[in-house]
Amino acid sequence: MPPATAGQQATNRDDDVVIEVDDLLMQFGKQTVLSGLDLKVRRGETLVVMGGSGCGKSTLLRLMIGAIAPTRGRIRLFGEDIAKVDESRLDALRRRFGILFQSGALYQSMSIAENVALPMRELTDLPPDLIDLQVKMKLEAVGLREHADKFPAQISGGMKKRAGLARALALDPEIIFYDEPSAGLDPVTSAEIDQLIITLTKKLGVTSVVVTHEMDSAFTIADRMVMLDKGRCLKIGPRADYERIRGLSKDDAERLPEDDRIVRQFIRGDAYGPITDRRTLTSYADDLMGLLNPLPASPSITPTR
Ligand SMILES: Nc1ncnc2c1ncn2[C@@H]1O[C@H](COP(=O)(O)OP(=O)(O)OP(=O)(O)O)[C@@H](O)[C@H]1O
Ligand SMILES: [Mg+2]
Repeated sequence: MPPATAGQQATNRDDDVVIEVDDLLMQFGKQTVLSGLDLKVRRGETLVVMGGSGCGKSTLLRLMIGAIAPTRGRIRLFGEDIAKVDESRLDALRRRFGILFQSGALYQSMSIAENVALPMRELTDLPPDLIDLQVKMKLEAVGLREHADKFPAQISGGMKKRAGLARALALDPEIIFYDEPSAGLDPVTSAEIDQLIITLTKKLGVTSVVVTHEMDSAFTIADRMVMLDKGRCLKIGPRADYERIRGLSKDDAERLPEDDRIVRQFIRGDAYGPITDRRTLTSYADDLMGLLNPLPASPSITPTR
């Protein structure tokens, strides 16, 4: 077969894109959380999303699943603008992805089995006995089959997380969004979740978008990694790029561009570096100035009479 031309390769790559984020702006009131974000996720890959607490990772996932609409810009899921589709198209898209929420987000009044069955009841015409069978299989996959009849309040935090995962798997989705899948889990359960993500990706071709702060997990599961910072995409690239930056000595790191030095501090969890410098240099000084300036003019201890 003749080699593909550059044009063909570009077309093939675009065919492979299942999520496309285009010039995304997300504001809550006056707060800008994401700004000018561009991102592509390809079929069958695991993209790990990282970034400081509050930088907008969960917000990005909620935008990707159409739970909230962007202030500006576009998110296409399987080629469809998720914020513009009507309810029936949104339901059709919902059948193609699953999400594990950061909090687990289980319905407290339903048993674990009922929670897992819910997406099948709501979004498919499957008969009850087939749903029961599917529920057993999903619960077995996450090690919870024996706890099917318990309620969320009766199980541990880690078990809730796994129950949430079983529910995310309920419809055999093509894309799974994970928000902090291993936070708060013991190391073994956390490693098991990593293996499950890898199995789903490699054996079933599932596309995964995983928000995580757990670096061991990130470097185990990622094909590509993206770091968000100040509303933008600071760096996106293959895991190997991040591994190289992580392994650089302090001296070599000095020569890196600022963005890569931020990435390095984050993924190494270093106490000192550009992220902490930035905090101490700007916000702390601003804070102090904000406090100091008004003091001479109106000292709070001055009696009013
Ligand atoms: N519905 C909302 N209304 C107002 N502000 C919001 C809303 N949702 C998120 N935010 C704000 O947007 C910012 C980003 O929140 P988000 O939950 O996406 O952060 P995150 O990166 O997931 O953080 P963490 O790592 O702590 O989970 C925060 O400042 C948060 O207060
Ligand atoms: Mg979050």
